[in-house]
Amino acid sequence: MARRKKIYEGKAKTLYEGPEPGTIVQYFKDDATAFNAEKHDVIEGKGVLNNILSEFFMLGLGQIGVPTHFLKRLNMREQLVRSCEIVPLEIIVRNYAAGSLCKRLGMDEGTQLPRPIVEYCYKDDALGDPLVTEEHIAAFGWASQQDMDDILSLALRVNDFLSGVMLAVGIRLVDFKIEIGRIYDGDFQRLVVADEISPDSCRLWDIKTGQKLDKDVFRRDLGSLTDAYTEVARRLGVMPNNP
Ligand code: C5P
Repeated sequence: MARRKKIYEGKAKTLYEGPEPGTIVQYFKDDATAFNAEKHDVIEGKGVLNNILSEFFMLGLGQIGVPTHFLKRLNMREQLVRSCEIVPLEIIVRNYAAGSLCKRLGMDEGTQLPRPIVEYCYKDDALGDPLVTEEHIAAFGWASQQDMDDILSLALRVNDFLSGVMLAVGIRLVDFKIEIGRIYDGDFQRLVVADEISPDSCRLWDIKTGQKLDKDVFRRDLGSLTDAYTEVARRLGVMPNNP
């Protein structure tokens, strides 16, 4: 990898200055973390799989008219994206009960929800990304009412797209997280789906067997994370040559 200016190093990705102004190179690392980085491991090949899967989902979203920050994949571990200002929220969409929803509301894992439920968490590692309401978001100025309307609409479109794509390969989209970026064009602002969409940020269960094909395999020590992500890539027909 050529030397260039590092902008930010996160838990699973490193961001570098891109070749053109307004672009960024996203490098996908093999690091896996859970429980706010209390659990950490390096899973060989995870970065390659997430790079290719995120490219697949972002390109598909672009094709149905959902704007994303994705420009192109550069190599097995890197993709070129548009630089954007990340809205400090994690947007979670749930179709079936799992994870923190089960803990919070005492629901059984796998219960189908009456409709997709959208939740917002404030992006702050030190606080463990706490759940917040639209009241907090408005009062603290993290996003305007118009932004929130647009974010909800984007989140539901992503949910419909991802649910359909996964259903077609026998996988249930239980829930997922997205991040939203702002791109400024003069005085005009556009919201785009940013960061990544991968089995790190989704819950994916085999429809027939219920087998988990996402980061819960790592969180809950359920077997090989690489095998799980490889299975998702294989079903979607996007296997890297050399994961
Ligand atoms: O932990 P929880 O049940 O709230 O997670 C809901 C969904 O959001 C899961 O698919 C999880 O992988 C994703 N998520 C994420 N990054 C976080 C928190 C949750 O990708 N910081």
